[in-house]
Amino acid sequence: MSAKHKIAIFASGYGSNFEAIATAAFAGVIPAEVALMVCDKPQARVVEVAQRMGIPSFVFSAKEYASKADYEREIVSRLRAAEVELICLAGYMKIVGEELLSAYEGRIINIHPSLLPSFKGARAIEQAMEYGVKVYGATIHYVDSSLDGGRIIAQRAIEYDGNSIEEVTAKIHSIEHELYIQTISKLLNKE
Ligand code: GRF
Repeated sequence: MSAKHKIAIFASGYGSNFEAIATAAFAGVIPAEVALMVCDKPQARVVEVAQRMGIPSFVFSAKEYASKADYEREIVSRLRAAEVELICLAGYMKIVGEELLSAYEGRIINIHPSLLPSFKGARAIEQAMEYGVKVYGATIHYVDSSLDGGRIIAQRAIEYDGNSIEEVTAKIHSIEHELYIQTISKLLNKE
C-alpha cells in the first residue's frame, strides 16, 4: 500500500459522498487520510457526520467575513496547516474563488450529478428529468473559474426511464460514491 495522501472534502449538506469517501479512507480502500472537512453551513448533517467519524472540520458562515477572498484565505491557511494535497468538492454549494483556485491550482475536483456538459448548475437531476432523458449519470471534473466547466476526469451513466426524482436521485448517489472513491484512488496513486 502506498503512503497516505492528505485530502480535504468540502460539503454543504447531507454528506453522503463525504461519508463514503471517509469510510473508504478509514478502511484503507483509498490511499488517503481525510485531514479536513470544510463546510459553509453550520446546521448541515455533514458536520455531525464528521464529528462522529472524528474528522477535523472547519465550519464557517460566509456572512461573518467581509468577502469571499477573506473566508477563502482562512480556508487556505487551514488546508496548509493540515498539509492537504487534494481538495474534493462533494455538494459544496459555493463557487470557488480566486484565492482557493490559485492556492490549489489543478488540485481541486468536484462531483456533479449529470453527464456534463449537459445540465450544469443546481437542480441538474430535475432538469434532466424535465427533458425526459433516458440516460442519467455523474461526472467528476477539475474545478476552474467556470460553473461546472473544468476538464472532465471520469463519468458514469445509468439508464432510467421512470418519473420518480427520489428513485433516480438514489441511483445517481450510489454511482457517485463508487465513482468518487475510484477516481480519488487513481489520482492519488499517480502521484
Ligand atoms: C451530489 O449529488 C453531488 O453530485 C452534488 O451534490 C450532491 C451532494 O450529495 N454536487 P451529498 O451531500 O454527498 O449526499
